Amino acid sequence: MGAGIMKSVKILSRTGESVILIGERLENLKTYIPVETPVIITDTNVRDCYRKCFPDGEVITIGTGEEKKNLDTVRYIYDQLLALEADRSAFIIGIGGGIVCDIAGFVASTYLRGVRFGFVSTTLLSQVDASVGGKNGVNFGGYKNMVGVFNQPEFVLCDLNLLRTLPQREILCGFAEVVKHAAIADDNLFAYLEEHYAQALALDTRVIEKLVYDSAVIKSSIVNRDEKERGERRKLNFGHTFGHAIEKTTAVPHGEAVSAGMVLASALSVKKGLLSAEDEERISALLKKFGLPTRLQFDRKTVLDAIRKDKKREGDSINFVLLREIGNAVVDEISIQELEAVISN
Ligand SMILES: NC(=O)c1ccc[n+]([C@@H]2O[C@H](COP(=O)([O-])OP(=O)(O)OC[C@H]3O[C@@H](n4cnc5c(N)ncnc54)[C@H](O)[C@@H]3O)[C@@H](O)[C@H]2O)c1
Ligand SMILES: [Zn+2]
Repeated sequence: MGAGIMKSVKILSRTGESVILIGERLENLKTYIPVETPVIITDTNVRDCYRKCFPDGEVITIGTGEEKKNLDTVRYIYDQLLALEADRSAFIIGIGGGIVCDIAGFVASTYLRGVRFGFVSTTLLSQVDASVGGKNGVNFGGYKNMVGVFNQPEFVLCDLNLLRTLPQREILCGFAEVVKHAAIADDNLFAYLEEHYAQALALDTRVIEKLVYDSAVIKSSIVNRDEKERGERRKLNFGHTFGHAIEKTTAVPHGEAVSAGMVLASALSVKKGLLSAEDEERISALLKKFGLPTRLQFDRKTVLDAIRKDKKREGDSINFVLLREIGNAVVDEISIQELEAVISN
């Protein structure tokens, strides 16, 4: 297994050119690095599992968890880079999940006004979502991803074998985003998921490769049309208005909250006379097949308050992603009252 079965997706954007390498091995990473001694940023879990497969280079290790995705960690990495005397010719590689890549991309984009960088995505969520699209940043003041930049890595290497050490709950978070991509943009992918969910859950290489590839194509084509999130890119927030609010107010992981959020957004789509009840049922059924929740316990008032505070809100209404049918999303202004009505049922 080498470059033979690898698939790649090219992204041409205003902030640069990027290539996503799907099915490439971590062992081959060195062939993509343009310098002798890159600086590798990783976290303790990924280091413990894969340090022996890293290429030569300096390694900066950060802790794990969303609470580490902050400016203190960024400062810690700047300090390490200074100690290493990293200059403008440095090449930074983030090897990890969405947290490592978001931080590494932000550090690389700001240290010395920007040095070259690439990613190795080690979680399903980062392979199908976080590493595609050029958003890098950290949390601040209690808000997710408040401080950051748009900037593309030169490459994103997605080694599918690395997913075997990932906890099952983390895998499911990735599948939630794949279902999202299918629901908003690709009915064929949706039908494929309905048929191949069992192989996907068993991490069958061919199936996972297709899911990562299709997700990269869907997300990158949406992003190419709207890099800075003015219109089209909002579709990627399907299930996320409710999802983020549920995630924030309960202890539920992102993917599970988004799963329940997609079910609520589908119900609202039916209520608005857009989506058919059959399509709504297919969405719930598919999420269940993946072991994702379709209903969660949460406090209605706290969730609505969280939505009201959402940074993407405009006035009394909110830009909300609805479905017309599976594979076809629209963004519409929805009032807080309408959202309240959906979660009251
Ligand atoms: N930039 C974007 O467009 C974008 C999009 C979606 C999500 N995100 C961000 O991504 C982050 C979540 O990313 P994530 O779900 O990858 O979480 P993560 O980076 O925290 O990784 C999940 C856990 O798995 C561990 N891990 C990573 N790879 C492993 C492997 N191969 N084997 C064993 N353990 C491994 C990590 O150490 C961590 O404990 C959030 O901060 C979110 O905001 C960014
Ligand atoms: Zn998400």
